[in-house]
Amino acid sequence: NPHTIQMEGNSVLRRDNCRAKGGSAGFKVAILGAAGGIGQPLAMLMKMNPLVSVLHLYDVVNTPGVTSDISHMDTGAVVRGFLGKDSLEDALTGMDLVIIPAGVPRKPGMTRDDLFNINAGIVKTLCEGISKCCPRAIVNLISNPVNSTVPIAAEVFKKAGTYDPRRLLGVTMLDVVRANTFVAEVLGLDPREVDVPVVGGHAGVTILPLLSQVKPSCSFTPQEIEYLTTRIQNGGTEVVEAKAGAGSATLSMAYAAVKFADACLRGLRGDAGIVECAFVDSQVTELPFFASKVRLSRNGVEEIYPLGPLNEYERNGLEKAKKELAGSIDKGIAFVRK
Ligand code: NAD
Ligand code: LMR
Repeated sequence: NPHTIQMEGNSVLRRDNCRAKGGSAGFKVAILGAAGGIGQPLAMLMKMNPLVSVLHLYDVVNTPGVTSDISHMDTGAVVRGFLGKDSLEDALTGMDLVIIPAGVPRKPGMTRDDLFNINAGIVKTLCEGISKCCPRAIVNLISNPVNSTVPIAAEVFKKAGTYDPRRLLGVTMLDVVRANTFVAEVLGLDPREVDVPVVGGHAGVTILPLLSQVKPSCSFTPQEIEYLTTRIQNGGTEVVEAKAGAGSATLSMAYAAVKFADACLRGLRGDAGIVECAFVDSQVTELPFFASKVRLSRNGVEEIYPLGPLNEYERNGLEKAKKELAGSIDKGIAFVRK
């Protein structure tokens, strides 16, 4: 028998035995900040992902419109919208993966750290919701400054007694996506054939591309190394300046976020050999968090790979990266402990 369900003020007519609550196969994914510049294309691309059965879109503004729009796409995932703080817990309950692009973006002249004062509080509140409603979810944190927001999330989870370091991942995939693109340009290759490990963190000199480990194996002149390292480290600023006050990377970020989320979901499904770079709780260096290649599994981060052999240029870069990273990590931890 047909019956009606109230959704976002619209009456939806459905038969009783229909898939009204989402398919049984696939994963439940929430996007927090889903109406934003990253959130909207990210929501669209996740709706197209066959591994997603339920997609929850949460924001403090505009989710009804975005949800209505995306819900008309004839793909498998069932989409539900959640507007405002009072709906955060409903948005998070039962989720397998939570992707967080909530928060303000940079304008020209700003560093990512200039976003700390606003975004730290946003990330803290959202992570408190995760501890309460889906403490076993994998968390993909995009909000900047990633070098501080990941330590903030870890502290929130520790306070709540729910911290599992394997399930918290800072998204540095855009640095890898850029590195693959720029290196392919220089080498005259298809970017899909290129794999550049990028380690460290996600801001300026903390972004450390390991050009000595590029696949397919190749060598660069000193000028090429200088050009590529600088361009990869400044990729975000390049977009911020081109957008001239209208925000930072959103489309390439949504692409990178989906590439990364898909890897996390394939890991959750039990696929073997899923390896990506991410900013995680790590013992690869003396710092408590560091980005490097990680292997993803049903538990999130199953294995963290060492940095491998570095040349002198990369060893110098590593020292600079660690110095800046240490301060950003401490700042995040202090924000929650204070
Ligand atoms: P945006 O301003 O277009 O969108 C942000 C969204 O977050 C808005 O819709 C806003 O309403 C929402 N929001 C604000 N407070 C919220 C709250 N408390 N709960 C839920 N949602 C909230 O910004 P954007 O361009 O989408 O960028 C978002 C963040 O991602 C920025 O911090 C940016 O620096 C960062 N970013 C990170 C990377 C990366 O590589 N990790 C890349 C690009 C951008
Ligand atoms: C990026 O790398 O594009 C993002 O971190 C956004 C920014 O502020 O540069």
